[in-house]
Amino acid sequence: MGSGFFGLTVAERVASQLDKRVLVLDRRDHIGGNAYSAPEPETGIEVHVYGAHLFHTSNERVWNYVNQFTEFTNYQHRVFSIYQDKTYSLPINLATICQYFGKSFSPEEARALVAEQAGEIDTAEAANLEEKAISLIGRPLYEAFIRGYTKKQWQTDPTELPAAVIARLPVRYTFDNRYFNDTWEGLPVDGYTAWLSRMADHPNIEVRLNTDYFDVRDELPADVPTVFTGPIDKYFGYEAGELGWRTLDFETEVLPIGDFQGTSVMNYADEDVPFTRIHEFRHFHPERKYPEDKTVVVREYSRFAESGDEPYYPINTPEDRAKLERYRELATKEAAEKRVLFGGRLGTYKYLDMHMAIGSALSMFDNRIRPFFDQGESLD
Ligand code: FAD
Ligand code: NA
Repeated sequence: MGSGFFGLTVAERVASQLDKRVLVLDRRDHIGGNAYSAPEPETGIEVHVYGAHLFHTSNERVWNYVNQFTEFTNYQHRVFSIYQDKTYSLPINLATICQYFGKSFSPEEARALVAEQAGEIDTAEAANLEEKAISLIGRPLYEAFIRGYTKKQWQTDPTELPAAVIARLPVRYTFDNRYFNDTWEGLPVDGYTAWLSRMADHPNIEVRLNTDYFDVRDELPADVPTVFTGPIDKYFGYEAGELGWRTLDFETEVLPIGDFQGTSVMNYADEDVPFTRIHEFRHFHPERKYPEDKTVVVREYSRFAESGDEPYYPINTPEDRAKLERYRELATKEAAEKRVLFGGRLGTYKYLDMHMAIGSALSMFDNRIRPFFDQGESLD
């Protein structure tokens, strides 16, 4: 149930390793879940329809697995930020610090400066997100790069957000501005949808789109194991209440110029700019022949999800965690009694990067699904 990376990985393993037939259901009209991408019709530029997706991993097994289905470009992700009409390098690094304070610092000088400014508040005593951030990086850098952006992401003033929302705020005392630290990084050479389609391309796999699980669940044979990658609270009829999510709104525009911002992602840190960032999709694939007189930009806005919105990021309040506890108990029972397993970001209410969704699906296959078929073990 669900044709995102989690569902497709399970389907592909069961089809190719166990030689069993798999039915994949998805309520959308395309496969791939949130990693789905499609060419923007006027320009042919590949747009990641549910937000920009950058593949990166340090997990060798996942890296070897995904390379069966696609090759990767040598794209390296970098992000910049505009604040008060100046452009800065992110994540906060030595270049950001030199730019922001308008002078050159050695790594040691920068470290001393940030430590002094962070000394204003003791991290252990931080009562909210603002205090926690100041305790880690000091007030000036917090106000420039964290305050406005965070407020727009959460539609909540950082003084009203729990300190626990941020665990760390790493500052790099080098000029390294690569966004990811992982061993492998790149974008699928012929796009996400080609990659995802090759995972589903097996004679044992049948994909049915435009099919909502909740409309057909009564017609499914009772003894066939199900891997459910949709919202766990919905599965149980919201018995313990609805889990909270943030969603994103995307505003896509084709501009009659060859290059809008010179890079793939620009954050907007000012509070009074309503969007959080702009993606310019041509820059994800500099190796491709895209039109030179047109470009596609997507503005991203963040807000709390209401019913009917796409759930994107778990909010994870203490109330959410209590509800999740209850749903986990129900899920354990469901596995034992009805052979239903819950996985993926919606099925576990966890933010998972793609490599994590794939890795966790491979583990579910090894630890639960294969033993069920090979040794007749129970699924729970
Ligand atoms: P999904 O991809 O959400 O798949 C679940 C599928 O289940 C969907 O296709 C859905 O239609 C289907 N479904 C749900 N309910 C039903 C139902 N009732 N009946 C039938 N089908 C149903 N990861 C990275 O590694 N790098 C990134 O840069 C990155 N950027 C991201 C940006 C955004 C905005 C978001 C939201 C996520 C990003 N991710 C990124 C994470 C990535 O999207 C996930 O790792 C991946 O989607 C997880 O796959 P999944 O199969 O668990 O879930
Ligand atoms: Na401090």
